[in-house]
Amino acid sequence: MRQSLGKEQKTFTLVVKRLDPGTRTFVEKSFQVEADHFTCVLDILIAVKEKQDHTLSMRYSCNMGICGSCGMVINGKPRLACETNVYSLGSETIHVGPMEAHPLLKDLVTDFDEFFANHRSVKPWLVRDDTDEQFRAEKEYHQTHRQVDYFLDFAHCIKCGLCVDACPVSNTNPHFVGPQALAQAYRYNSDSRDQGEEERLDSLDRMDGVWGCEFAGACSEVCPKGVDPALTIQQLKIDIMKRRLTGRVNPDKRAR
Ligand code: FES
Repeated sequence: MRQSLGKEQKTFTLVVKRLDPGTRTFVEKSFQVEADHFTCVLDILIAVKEKQDHTLSMRYSCNMGICGSCGMVINGKPRLACETNVYSLGSETIHVGPMEAHPLLKDLVTDFDEFFANHRSVKPWLVRDDTDEQFRAEKEYHQTHRQVDYFLDFAHCIKCGLCVDACPVSNTNPHFVGPQALAQAYRYNSDSRDQGEEERLDSLDRMDGVWGCEFAGACSEVCPKGVDPALTIQQLKIDIMKRRLTGRVNPDKRAR
């Protein structure tokens, strides 16, 4: 049943929004494409590139929702092209365009330099006073299941940039650090092995940090991995206020 359903082919119209390098204006180019019930948007883009227009540019790698490379706007919403089933869109016309909160390089390919600079700015690694664990195996930092639960949901970020593209603040304020970086700050702050929480909270206690977030929630809505950046940002705000009032930060995370 599943196999025969998959073999049914239907024709869709793919409309690609592209920047004309000559006039520096966006133009739309349409292609007729065949798809079955298992075809994703990335499949039809690859088919167009191979058979109809070799100049079409998009970025992808894993084709399985892991690498985070294939983010683009599909029918008005930031999505992963490899995770978006063509039939699930409920339309015979599929509009694709580049993400708008990231600078455009070509066609559907955007520049992630700024995105990764923001990511690095929150020190998304374990900050330690001692580094013995790197050199002495017996110094491994063991964690209980409970301690892992504090951060695991937020560790699934694949850095696809969809949350930044959906965020109304990132789209209007280029200095805002953005939902992805803030979610990763919270992920490491919540890790019992980390000692960088105070430093991160200090650096994010500003209008271009956590206080820039207007809690639209669009970041969490588009996240393909369920990271829920909006929740983490509100939690960071609470942690900053707790620290201001009590001088303590997140003492529970080290509880076993
Ligand atoms: Fe890797 Fe889509 S190609 S996430």
